[in-house]
Amino acid sequence: MRLERFISKHTEHSHKTARLLVASGRVCVEGEVCRNLKQEIHQFHSVSLDDQVLQHRQAHYLMLHKPSGYLSATSDPVHPTVMELIAPELRPHLHIGGRLDRASSGLLILTNDGLWSRQLTDPQRKSPKVYRVTTAYPICPDTPDRFARGIDLKPENLTTSPADLELLAPNEVRLTIYEGRYHQIKRMFAAVGNRVIRLHREQMGAINLDPTLAPGGSRSLTQHEIASISPRL
Ligand code: URA
Repeated sequence: MRLERFISKHTEHSHKTARLLVASGRVCVEGEVCRNLKQEIHQFHSVSLDDQVLQHRQAHYLMLHKPSGYLSATSDPVHPTVMELIAPELRPHLHIGGRLDRASSGLLILTNDGLWSRQLTDPQRKSPKVYRVTTAYPICPDTPDRFARGIDLKPENLTTSPADLELLAPNEVRLTIYEGRYHQIKRMFAAVGNRVIRLHREQMGAINLDPTLAPGGSRSLTQHEIASISPRL
């Protein structure tokens, strides 16, 4: 929303008065006087009028090394949730961008920026998600080809988009998928007669799990990592 509209929406001033306030240098955006009525204001811009703070909300972007056994949920009566691994003061603000099953481990991203997390998980963007997968049985020679052609998933009756499989050991692969459907990887392996016994997410888009983070550890994303998904709008 533009600054002029923002001021009239967040105060009792009319559009006309809002224009005058901005022109007379009484409005600050990000701590600087802003006289541009057309300045776009997003949810994390700080905006003040004289000494009155009209909006101040800090954006948070975290990566967590999710240990297996934790639910990707904000609360649960039975199982521990990933929120219990996050600083208590941040918990009420964060949501999860791309869940992992309880038994899965690896890269989990939490944020309070809904527009950004929508981009992170938007299937239209076809951004890669990379997983290390251990299977119960050796990988069949035709599995890479079947995954590349797409696997039919019931009950949705849809075909997964092409996935890349790199064989690391007889029972271990690195799998890259470009979407994120419910239990997708487990269901893909089940469809070729195999079973996932360990699933670890290494990467989402251009964001890699920081190798210095132990299971349960978290850190803020860097500006570079944030901008790799989308520059703040
Ligand atoms: N696919 C799955 O089956 N489980 C996950 O946790 C992530 C992707």
